[in-house]
Amino acid sequence: MTSGDPIQKTAAFVKDLLISDHSGHDWWHCFRVWRLAKKIWEKEGGNLQVIELAALLHDVGDYKIAPENEVVSENIIREWLEKLQFDERIISEILSIITSISFRGTKEKQGVISIECKIVQDADFLDAIGAIGIGRAFAYGGFKGHIMYDPAIQPVQYSSFEHYKRRNSSTINHFYEKLVLLQEMLNTDTAKLIAESRHKYLHQFLEQFHDEWELRK
Ligand code: ADP
Ligand code: NI
Repeated sequence: MTSGDPIQKTAAFVKDLLISDHSGHDWWHCFRVWRLAKKIWEKEGGNLQVIELAALLHDVGDYKIAPENEVVSENIIREWLEKLQFDERIISEILSIITSISFRGTKEKQGVISIECKIVQDADFLDAIGAIGIGRAFAYGGFKGHIMYDPAIQPVQYSSFEHYKRRNSSTINHFYEKLVLLQEMLNTDTAKLIAESRHKYLHQFLEQFHDEWELRK
């Protein structure tokens, strides 16, 4: 496969794979991350082709969809990029971005060094906060059968990725355990600016939620 725009072809490939996902990794999430990444690139620079491909492919076979299949998803992405005749250097750059960007339960980041990687991670984090992030959290919680809120279950600070993966917290706790931490983890000034209103909205939502729960409103 050689003719045609590899970005458009990749968009069609991802759309086809993820269109029926209901765990928050659906095609529209990838579409939004792709668009956000392009918007951040306009100010921050970097290799646009690598950024676009990594943004589009970043959730193909996420560990939360197929927990045992990190290798399988890597193979799917590799096979696809080989079919488009990208060279090994580009393919391993894209794979390394995709394996580095995921939130792993703590504020620590691993391997997020290049500007391309920083931009794709920022775009993915931005889509997890704000009104869209709130919608995704409840969609994911419903998909996993998690409870919305239980006042007896306190949010925790995870010590490791294993701990984060194992725990079935409430969706409201996920806000404290991940979503409100993301603003500080952003890499680029452009993303930090976009995050301001989204982050504020998370806090407003939580305040209103607790006011209603406690019958203050
Ligand atoms: P991303 O696609 O941004 O990397 P994840 O793969 O970690 O995000 O999760 C997909 C979506 O589901 C995100 O919006 C995330 O906040 C949400 N999510 C992940 N784990 C939970 C959870 N335990 N409870 C509620 N929402 C969750
Ligand atoms: Ni994602």
